[in-house]
Amino acid sequence: MRGKLAVKKYLMVALTIIGVVLALALVPNPLNKKMKGELKARGYLEYTPQEAMELAYARCTTCHNEEKMIKYCSRCGPPFIVVVHYMKKYIDIAQKKGAMDVKQLTDAEAIAITQVWNAVVGNWEGDWRKKDIKRLLENDEALARFLDVPVKDRKIESALKGKTAPGAYKYQQEGL
Ligand code: HEC
Repeated sequence: MRGKLAVKKYLMVALTIIGVVLALALVPNPLNKKMKGELKARGYLEYTPQEAMELAYARCTTCHNEEKMIKYCSRCGPPFIVVVHYMKKYIDIAQKKGAMDVKQLTDAEAIAITQVWNAVVGNWEGDWRKKDIKRLLENDEALARFLDVPVKDRKIESALKGKTAPGAYKYQQEGL
């Protein structure tokens, strides 16, 4: 008898939890948005190209403005995949200093952001030897793996490819 009651109680608790989770998932609310953002940052959900663009502008303009990305070019240095890896180091340093509140990029965020700048400013990974890029990526396994994904299979990058950031060299070269 007691055992049966206990089972009933657990069932009720389980159902309540499922109900709350469902309600949270179905009703659009700020918490839901935050949860989704977290799931995307962790790579469980995909960023849409538009979301990736917003993420790139938001996260890459905390320490300098967007000119840094927009004026960056193939003559300036290694491709964005390497730049994003370097920026993770600057974020580490900034966090250690504790001078500013800046969040480290997750792997999914770094991959989404790399695709955005590749698409709207330029992707010159092909001008470099893969070996050299991998060396520069050091122990960044997520980005190193992403390097091997052809552009046509990179959803965000291929969706944004025709677009240009106003002021980018690519934009000027195309005479637009
Ligand atoms: C924690 C602060 C910080 C964040 C966040 C940050 N950067 Fe930077 N960035 C720097 C610093 C510091 C430099 C180097 C000094 C300089 O050039 O002003 C730099 C330089 C650059 C440069 C110029 C590099 C060169 O060789 O000329 C590019 C491009 C750039 N950042 C892109 C990005 C991108 C893309 C992101 C987003 C993923 C980003 N930054 C986020 C701090 C940051």
